[in-house]
Amino acid sequence: FALLSTDELKALVRTVPDFPKPGIQFRDITTLIGHPVGMADSVQHLAQLAKACGAQKIAGMEARGFIFGAAVAVELGIGFLPVRKPGKLPIETIGIDYALEYGVDRLEVDPGAIGKGEAIVIVDDLIATGGTALATAQLLRSAGANVENALFVIDLPDLGGAAKLRDAGLTVQTLMEFE
Ligand code: PRP
Ligand code: ADE
Repeated sequence: FALLSTDELKALVRTVPDFPKPGIQFRDITTLIGHPVGMADSVQHLAQLAKACGAQKIAGMEARGFIFGAAVAVELGIGFLPVRKPGKLPIETIGIDYALEYGVDRLEVDPGAIGKGEAIVIVDDLIATGGTALATAQLLRSAGANVENALFVIDLPDLGGAAKLRDAGLTVQTLMEFE
């Protein structure tokens, strides 16, 4: 059986203008993941890429990265590492501050959940400025992980995030692009 093509998956993403601020075209995955085949086949496409990268663990960023990242980890039979917004983890964390397309935030992880040299592949729903993914790569690398690959459902190439990650030595693969 054939997976839905990435063009067919792209048609399931909803665009909402002026959210959360005027001028932002919000690419909303709610409609993609609400579609039974859209969800399953997005995960299959990502899992094929993650497997080819030699992923030993998947890291996903709160909150939308959990949706795809956890499903990819289950599909490959490997562990999942939640990269969390601040103050959520009950242990001593390591963290990093970063800039968003529309604000600032911070990410934290449990350093004890990261093996030295472990090949961790980053999975998120979308890359915009790349700030979230670059911060995640830096954070995981600082804890000893081997981070060479980042996978996204959606790329917004005009915002330059994928190029920024490639400049930092990461291999970036995405399922679809929006202007
Ligand atoms: C969104 C998205 C990515 C990030 C991309 O998450 O899910 O993680 O922004 O933007 P960037 O490439 O400019 O960093 P957001 O922080 O809005 O959180 P959410 O997943 O909780 O909605
Ligand atoms: N995260 C950052 N920018 C975004 C956008 N334009 N649409 C959806 N999620 C985003």
